Amino acid sequence: MYYFIEPMTEDDIPEVQQIESQSFTTPWSANTYKREIRNTASCRYLVVRSSPTPPPPRTGRDQAQRRPSIIGQIAAALFPPANGSTHSSPIIGYGGLWLTVDDAHVTTIGVDPQHRGFGVGELLLNGLIDAAYELRAKMLTLEVRVSNTVAQQLYLKYGFQPAGTRPRYYTDNGEDALIMWTEAIDSPEYQSRLSEMRRQLYARLQRQVAEKRSAVRVS
Ligand SMILES: CC(C)(COP(=O)(O)OP(=O)(O)OC[C@H]1O[C@@H](n2cnc3c(N)ncnc32)[C@H](O)[C@@H]1OP(=O)(O)O)[C@@H](O)C(=O)NCCC(=O)NCCS
Repeated sequence: MYYFIEPMTEDDIPEVQQIESQSFTTPWSANTYKREIRNTASCRYLVVRSSPTPPPPRTGRDQAQRRPSIIGQIAAALFPPANGSTHSSPIIGYGGLWLTVDDAHVTTIGVDPQHRGFGVGELLLNGLIDAAYELRAKMLTLEVRVSNTVAQQLYLKYGFQPAGTRPRYYTDNGEDALIMWTEAIDSPEYQSRLSEMRRQLYARLQRQVAEKRSAVRVS
């Protein structure tokens, strides 16, 4: 399967909400998404699409609206363009962040349950980190349920460290939130870690494409 990442548009909201309903107990309204997407000064929202064939090139108005991030360019290099429309490729993950003063706050990240475990969450997090650089954020932060060890593993991998809790933060069950922060994302240490993580992710995604190709040849 080929994955590619691009900015979320208002047309994407219904598909995003389907994944959200399978990922979270307190979903956002369509109006909340619209407000976030329109706030381009301090918000960035992304989607990942999957396709059985390499993703299409972006042209004209579509290209202007969907400027690819650095990770988008990596994905485009990994998955060379073909003809067609991106809209025929289903959304399988999404994520977003806000800039609050100097820090980028990851507000949401979710992957379609059928596509978990293949690097999509990691691809999204990389897209959000790129967005944080673009917004000139100094650090990244987020809240995660104390019970959500899967997401915590993803964040730890990208240099987020626990920094306290917010008691009874989640209104559905009164669960505490773990607060996590990265170090300064412009530090040489963080950038070196990120480069290594990206090298490994790139290799993993390439390996998956190669395995899929050989499975198709065999069958
Ligand atoms: C958290 C989530 C986004 C991860 O997406 P994903 O595409 O399955 O994750 P990836 O395949 O990219 O895995 C990246 C890393 O996440 C962690 N991870 C993923 N699945 C895991 C699992 N089942 N157990 C432990 N760690 C896991 C690992 O650190 C993994 O790196 P590794 O493969 O080198 O071990 C996804 O599970 C999800 O949508 N969960 C529901 C919504 C949610 O909890 N969002 C976070 C809210 S704060």
